[in-house]
Amino acid sequence: MTKLLSDLWECYYAMNAQVPKIHAALQDHGEQEIINDHIAFRTFAGPKSGLDKIKKPFEDLGWQIAGNYFFKQKKLRAIHLERQGAPKIFLSELIVEDFSPEFQAIVSAELAQLTAKEFTAEMLVSGRWQKADPDLETYNALLSESEYAAWLYIFGICPNHFTVYVNALETFSDIDVLNTFLLVHGYVMNTAGGIVKGTMEDGLRQSSTMAATVPVKFSNLEVLDIPCCYYEFAQRYLISDKMFQGFVTASADKIFQSTDSK
Ligand code: NI
Repeated sequence: MTKLLSDLWECYYAMNAQVPKIHAALQDHGEQEIINDHIAFRTFAGPKSGLDKIKKPFEDLGWQIAGNYFFKQKKLRAIHLERQGAPKIFLSELIVEDFSPEFQAIVSAELAQLTAKEFTAEMLVSGRWQKADPDLETYNALLSESEYAAWLYIFGICPNHFTVYVNALETFSDIDVLNTFLLVHGYVMNTAGGIVKGTMEDGLRQSSTMAATVPVKFSNLEVLDIPCCYYEFAQRYLISDKMFQGFVTASADKIFQSTDSK
């Protein structure tokens, strides 16, 4: 594993209390090595923070763009990158200009605090870039227009989720058996559009936990529990004799809702 991947994993593992628990449960079930299908990030579109910037640390390490996606309702663009023998990287950006002038002003003030000229690998594991604690009014203003933006304001550009590659599991025959196992172990799964998103014909079936909350301290000293990261599971299928490596927009659209608090 490259240093970047192990740093990203450490960052994600430390942020999401579900992950060590799910890993331990899978290991108790007999799994030795858990392979990741992809790692996903969120960002704001723009010259300092957009896809073109945050893809750079991955391209420098040999990943290449392999897919483009558009989520009309959530106002997102996304790309995915591939590198032989490594997890895919799924990067999405919020199309800020499609939101209200107030919303755009908030985002632009937050991005003004991102001072680095180039987006580096280190920045992908340092999370929130603003120095001050988050402001509750700002958070609520973003949340009223986009859950995605509110999440990004609190947690920054860091791994939003890792995804277990179900095909590589040895003791679970498919994603349905795995989902039942997770439900029995008490994990709350994202049921938007059903527990499993996608079909065999799509080439990809996905599920995810609902993000666990973490306590976040705001500048007024109030502490609120905010949904943080979730864990995703993906099973891939052959399409015309080739393993499908892309993403299915309708499915990913619902997976984004794994950090909803409502
Ligand atoms: Ni994903």
